[in-house]
This record gives sequence, structure tokens and C-alpha cells, in this order.
Amino acid sequence: MSALAQIPDTANRLYGRAKGKPLSAYQSGLIETLLPDISVSVDAPLYGLEQFDSRYLEIGFGAAEHILHRASENPRNAYIGAEPFLNGVAKACAGIDRGGLDNIRLYHGDVRDLFPAMGRHSLDGMYILFPDPWPKSRHNKRRIMSKEFITQIHGLIKPGGFLCFASDILDYVDWTLTRIDAHSGFGFSPDSKADFLTPYTGWPGTRYQKKATREGRIPHYFTFTAQ
Ligand SMILES: C[S@@+](CC[C@H](N)C(=O)[O-])C[C@H]1O[C@@H](n2cnc3c(N)ncnc32)[C@H](O)[C@@H]1O
Repeated sequence: MSALAQIPDTANRLYGRAKGKPLSAYQSGLIETLLPDISVSVDAPLYGLEQFDSRYLEIGFGAAEHILHRASENPRNAYIGAEPFLNGVAKACAGIDRGGLDNIRLYHGDVRDLFPAMGRHSLDGMYILFPDPWPKSRHNKRRIMSKEFITQIHGLIKPGGFLCFASDILDYVDWTLTRIDAHSGFGFSPDSKADFLTPYTGWPGTRYQKKATREGRIPHYFTFTAQ
């Protein structure tokens, strides 16, 4: 089955395009050979990751800058990345191949497929970095940070674990803070505004963050602690 066949094509989609420009021969080769070996299964997404010190999930890793960086910085930790955009998955595969990284697993598809079998409190942390903003009000309902989604991800993160959420869209920041606050299972106590205007420690930069900065929008970086 082709990797694209996993991608749902329904109104329930939270993301935009699933494929962009044609892959290079090197990338296509990795999709055929490497991806099957490092893909997680929806039936047991954390299978084989017991030997790592801790486990993290990045939702919508885009061009994979962040997951590749964290994984190479922390070889004792495991990183699972979910991304429906094939070109992003190909970039991740190329980075894994070139860096010889053995601590990244990928899911080419909608992250929500992984949740049922992931296990309560199975993750040490989660990253949602510059999610699709869906700025038109009639599209707001596609924003990933819905009440239901926040409840689901909260159940997956260990008490004391973290959720990093970054966005440059102020309306989406407000939207998320309102829902995180209403959920009441996450702690968030910034000392000052500077706390959420400062990138995360070791921040490598991502394509969407750089685009935001170039276009004059201010990236906000939040870390919520699961209680
Ligand atoms: C605006 S991009 C940001 C990419 C990257 N995090 C960055 O900072 O450059 C949002 C990404 O989230 C992905 N995405 C959207 N919905 C998703 C879902 N349900 N599961 C996994 N990834 C999703 C999109 O395909 C897209 O690549």
C-alpha cells in the first residue's frame, strides 16, 4: 500500500495539502526503504521505545527541523513525529538518514489515529509548533486545539510532563489559552510576558516560525505543565 493511501480524505481533516512538489530520487527511495522501518503502528505506537529514557510526540513537524534537532541533542530520548504532508515526512527521513538517528519514529498521517492505542500518561512531553491557523472564522473549527483534542492530549501526557505550544497568530493564541484554561488540567504560570516571547531552550527555528518573523508577526512560545 502506498504511504499516501493512509491519508484520510474527509471533511474531518485538520490539515491542508498532503503532498507538494515532487520528491527527489533520494527522498523517494527513503520513503520506500527507510520509512517502513521507522513508522509507528496505530495499534502500538510506542512499541520498541521502552529502552529510551523518555518519549515525546511532535504533532505536525512540517519540514522536521525541530524533531531532528531534539533527537540529535538527546540520543537517550525517543521522538515520535506525526505529519500528513509527504514532503515533510521525506525531509524527516533524509535528516534521520544523514544524521544516523535511531531515536525517531514517524507517522505519516493524522496524529489522532495514534491516540486510541497510545496509553494514558505514556508521554513525557508533546510539541505542537505553529499549527495551521485556519484564520477564517468559518474554518476555525478545523483548529487542532479544540476542547476535545486538549482533553485527549492531556490524557496522554504524564503528570509533570509538558505541552509546548507555539503560534504567531494572536487570535489562535487567545483561542488556545481560553481552552487550556477551561480544561484546568494544565498549569501555566509565566513570570512575565518575556517568558512566552522567548524561544524554547535550544530552539532550532522552523520554517513557519521564520516565515512569521519575516512577515512581522511575533511568535509566542508556551509551555504548559500537565497536572
Ligand atoms: C503550519 S505547519 C507548521 C509546521 C512546523 N511545525 C513548523 O513550525 O514549521 C502545521 C503542520 O501541521 C500538520 N498537521 C495538521 N494537522 C495535523 C494532524 N491532525 N496530525 C498531524 N499533523 C498535522 C500540517 O500538515 C502542517 O505540516
